[in-house]
Amino acid sequence: MQEQRTQWSSSLGFIIASVGSAVGLGNIWKFPYITYENGGGFFVLIYLGAIFIVAFPIVIAEMSLGRHAQLNAFGTFKKLSKNNPFWKAVGLMCIFSAFAILSYYSVVAGWTLDYVWESINDNLQKLTAETVGTRFGAFLASPWKQILLHTVFMFLTSMVVIRGTSGIEKAVDILMPMLGLFILIIAGTSIYNFGSGSTIDFLFNCNFSQINGSSVLEAVGQAFFTLSLGLGAMIVYGSYLPKKISLVKSTIWIVILDTMIALLACFMMYPIIFGTDMEVKRSATILFTSLTVQFNMLPGGSFISAIFYLLVGFAALTSTIALLEPVVSFIDETFNISRKKGTILSAFFIWLLGVGSALGNGASDFFTKLNFMGNLDGLTANWTLPIGGMLIAVFAGWFFKTKDKKEEFNSNELKYFYPYWNFTLKFISPLLVFIVILYKLGVF
Ligand code: PHE
Repeated sequence: MQEQRTQWSSSLGFIIASVGSAVGLGNIWKFPYITYENGGGFFVLIYLGAIFIVAFPIVIAEMSLGRHAQLNAFGTFKKLSKNNPFWKAVGLMCIFSAFAILSYYSVVAGWTLDYVWESINDNLQKLTAETVGTRFGAFLASPWKQILLHTVFMFLTSMVVIRGTSGIEKAVDILMPMLGLFILIIAGTSIYNFGSGSTIDFLFNCNFSQINGSSVLEAVGQAFFTLSLGLGAMIVYGSYLPKKISLVKSTIWIVILDTMIALLACFMMYPIIFGTDMEVKRSATILFTSLTVQFNMLPGGSFISAIFYLLVGFAALTSTIALLEPVVSFIDETFNISRKKGTILSAFFIWLLGVGSALGNGASDFFTKLNFMGNLDGLTANWTLPIGGMLIAVFAGWFFKTKDKKEEFNSNELKYFYPYWNFTLKFISPLLVFIVILYKLGVF
């Protein structure tokens, strides 16, 4: 007997849950730091192009496939391709990506908890632009703190996945808009205190000498990462989506909000970096270093800091849930074990892999030398996600029956968009990703 699948209650509920999955550390932690590393300008342009041209149609594709098949990524490929081994392998690659990304994502999410704790205890107050980096480095080098926080985050994620997401859905309604507001206010304050000129210049002034295969691939990978694409998270979310909800309209909201948050996150941090004599030794830490400098200038700064990192931690939680879901629903639906057992089993192995990342930022020489976290992130975000996304586009474009595809698209207002969407899935998205990969491989 097929169990009745739970469904999102309304279109707004779905949009909020999907925005919750999309907006997370990818926007607030990763985008600002890799954009900084890649010199801004041109990188941002490629990123925006990848979001709107390549990735946006694939979000709709993933959700349509999931809603049609009512299964996880692997099950969806298996069912719709009638057991074709190639497509089943693609499904497995998606599950692998979710598994690997969650393992290090949970480590970074744990860092937000430390900042909540330290802010409440007023321990960050004395830090200055010169000392924030050193303090954070010492924190990264503490093995027990890193493992403890990673464990707490994996535990929280598993609890929510076991108990069902309805409680979280309600919290998302309030906390995500609150996070948006905080980001807006903090960005405004940074601009007020330190000016916006250098940031605007850095983000939007293209310097074509920066073009190289690695940064182009990284920008495309980030577009997939930030929209939770290429690993089946949106397939699973789509499978919970009632037929009457318009996919296209929901997706437009998700993509726009996600992009705005990523850009605003840069406006929170860059003015501080450019406007003080802060030395950015490790760009991956700017979310945890630059803002402290400003919070310490504000009245009630510790309190604002605690709330801010708590909200970021919550945004991370709604993403870790979306990352664990594809793995758990794969285990449940393939091996027919209970959801609870499936969750505990998946979470344990993901946690275990995450230990390498937890210790890989200074706490253990072995994992630090391996650049464990950086390499795992590189392998997934730059390779398996874009390749997974490209293949999902090919599958939806060429192998998803036209009648079913049209039915899933079912948007009256945006009917004229269908041929464009289908054409993009068939040709534009896969070709562009393919060209970027060849470029990175140095073929031209
Ligand atoms: N999109 C999330 C973020 O930007 C990360 C994520 C990736 C979540 C893939 C789910 C699936 O933080």
